Amino acid sequence: GKGNYRHFMEKELHEHPVVLGDTLRQHIDPATRAVALPPLPFDPAAVPKITFSACGSAYLAAQVGRYWIEQVARIPVDSDVASELRYRDPPLPEGGAALLVSQSGETADTLAALRLLRKRGQHVLSVVNVAESTMDRESDGTLLTIAGPEIGVASTKAFTAQLAVLAALALGFGRARGTLSAAEEARLTAALLEVPGHAATLLEGGEEIQALAAEVALARDVLFLGRGSLYPIALEGALKLKELSYIHAEGYAAGEMKHGPIALIDQDVPVIALCPSGPLFEKTASNLQEAAARGGRIMAFTDAAGAPALRRFAERVVTLPTVDPFVAPILHAIPVQLLAYHVAVLKGTDVDQPRNLAKAVTVE
Ligand code: M6R
Repeated sequence: GKGNYRHFMEKELHEHPVVLGDTLRQHIDPATRAVALPPLPFDPAAVPKITFSACGSAYLAAQVGRYWIEQVARIPVDSDVASELRYRDPPLPEGGAALLVSQSGETADTLAALRLLRKRGQHVLSVVNVAESTMDRESDGTLLTIAGPEIGVASTKAFTAQLAVLAALALGFGRARGTLSAAEEARLTAALLEVPGHAATLLEGGEEIQALAAEVALARDVLFLGRGSLYPIALEGALKLKELSYIHAEGYAAGEMKHGPIALIDQDVPVIALCPSGPLFEKTASNLQEAAARGGRIMAFTDAAGAPALRRFAERVVTLPTVDPFVAPILHAIPVQLLAYHVAVLKGTDVDQPRNLAKAVTVE
């Protein structure tokens, strides 16, 4: 049941710290701070390419995984939504690997992509939340997320658990390929293991996000912007807001603003920016400043180091805990989910069962 929570989604949001902790400890030894992956269906040190595929939020988690694996392990990654990949017939290298991501393990398009990739000789690894699901059974290897049952149609804890597995995988691949030193591995696993505690802090202090939600609830259109590994989280923010509140929202790579979307900017379109400090901060901040100069109302998620610069032009700045840039996408995923939740509650939509949506899309 829902316990004392109003919705399953609210309950599931509050399970983030436990789910992230359980999922991370499955793949990281807290004592040694080393990644310990189970046997994989391919050798990450030798694999020529990995093809990622999934649908919806699971695809966006895979997109973050792509940034991580390319950056840390230097493995070429191709990725596509499963409904495209299954008909695209991409050239696939011999000995290549495929990585499929799914909460349910039953999504029709993802399953079709899995079967195609296997038939084409790729070694298939799946990240799924439901053990014994069709995808679990048909994959050459499975990494389970330990999110428990997710009842709300909008994915929350399963999404961040997918990110946790993909982060550990990227570090494990980096070690196997010699692109990640033991010291870096220990530093990044330590950063990951701190995420559950930060998630708890975020969930305790929700007032700023509620105030932001009250403004977003009045909008007809909303833009989400992010750069690098925060770009897929911007897309996820837009997807969550659409599916829960029925407000039109789009996610863009911050650098794409001036190639079209900036024409939409006026005081009626809130611009929600995911802009933690780190190597890409200045770039994103300057895109935001351009939007602000055209009358855009910037609402930014950042950290203590990023807040002062953004306060100069942003209408609202929500300060998240300071973390290594590597783990920032996991941490930023939680407030965008919370925002969509609060907007949906304010709009009175059916939070756990939004119109027209199904928890598992088992038809094409
Ligand atoms: O069960 P799956 O992870 O394969 O489902 C994929 C998508 O249908 C799912 O993530 C969908 O986008 C959610 N409603 C997002 O909140």
